[in-house]
Amino acid sequence: MLTGKAVMTRKTQEPAHTNATNDQSTPGLSRRSFFTAAGASGIAAAGSFLIGDRAMAQSTDWKQPGNNNHVIDLQSQTGTSTEGTVGIDFYGHCAFKITSPAGATVLVDPWRDDPSGAWGMWFKNEFPETVVDICMSTHTHFDHDAIMRPHSTMILDRMVGNFEFADLKITGFADKHTCVAPGWYEWTNALAEFGAEACPPDNVGHMDNVTFVIETGGIRTLIWGDNRPDPADAFWDAVGRVDVLTLPVDGSEHILSYEMGNAIVERLKPKVVIPTHYLNETTSYTLTTLQTADEWVKSQKSFKMLDGPSLPLNASEIARMDREFLYFGHHAQTA
Ligand SMILES: [Fe+2]
Ligand SMILES: [Fe+2]
Repeated sequence: MLTGKAVMTRKTQEPAHTNATNDQSTPGLSRRSFFTAAGASGIAAAGSFLIGDRAMAQSTDWKQPGNNNHVIDLQSQTGTSTEGTVGIDFYGHCAFKITSPAGATVLVDPWRDDPSGAWGMWFKNEFPETVVDICMSTHTHFDHDAIMRPHSTMILDRMVGNFEFADLKITGFADKHTCVAPGWYEWTNALAEFGAEACPPDNVGHMDNVTFVIETGGIRTLIWGDNRPDPADAFWDAVGRVDVLTLPVDGSEHILSYEMGNAIVERLKPKVVIPTHYLNETTSYTLTTLQTADEWVKSQKSFKMLDGPSLPLNASEIARMDREFLYFGHHAQTA
């Protein structure tokens, strides 16, 4: 292992080759592991990523149980839209599973602990090995990138552009991560300490972010990821109508401040707002430095504390809602 001193002398963000056997938390490193930055939301290459012999990137997906029968059953429905209930299941942090009325499933932003160890323990367990059709990730930070954990038939990693499968339509918009911490914990300063540029246009690659609009059952859900609060006008023009908006706002204002979150809500005027990236006692530790989203939620004109990790939504039902905050609190799916 490199010493802390050696880590701190690193001045570039060039991918470092490592020996996969060093990384106990991620047996079988994926390509992203060479690039994954450690950090409060992953900000600096550190620890085992900087050393070791050249190793081949490996995926363990060939060991997954099950097969693609579910996908084969659904693929003939591609391009159709089905009315009915859309399932939203919260897995803590920014991870959701969305289930279309036809039964197609997509899981976004599964999390893990920083594999270098540099940023400590954020999560109480490994991400559940949930069975889904599609797995997606908004960006390469450890708290969003455990794409090897769900048992998924497809992985759409940082997907930009359009994708259709069964009664799901997904659009990815390439943009940038928040690069100046708005809250008390100035985690973005660590990039400067490592000699890396956090902000666009010359940001290191792990400070890119892709937001997704997932459309199914007549509901358009925007997965914000850790995106900056002020994307260019082209983004707002392209994103279109948003019915359900997920936003990373917590009491420490780690990714977005209350003010930034409120401004995005006012601009998009979604029917439903779901807070993400906050301290959830089922899945995450205080070491995240995150706080709950209670204060932000309770400052809104209309909100509801959900009593479980599942939220079934119907387009006709939410049509009557206006910026209604639906908050999962400490609930999270664990399997
Ligand atoms: Fe994050
Ligand atoms: Fe991040």
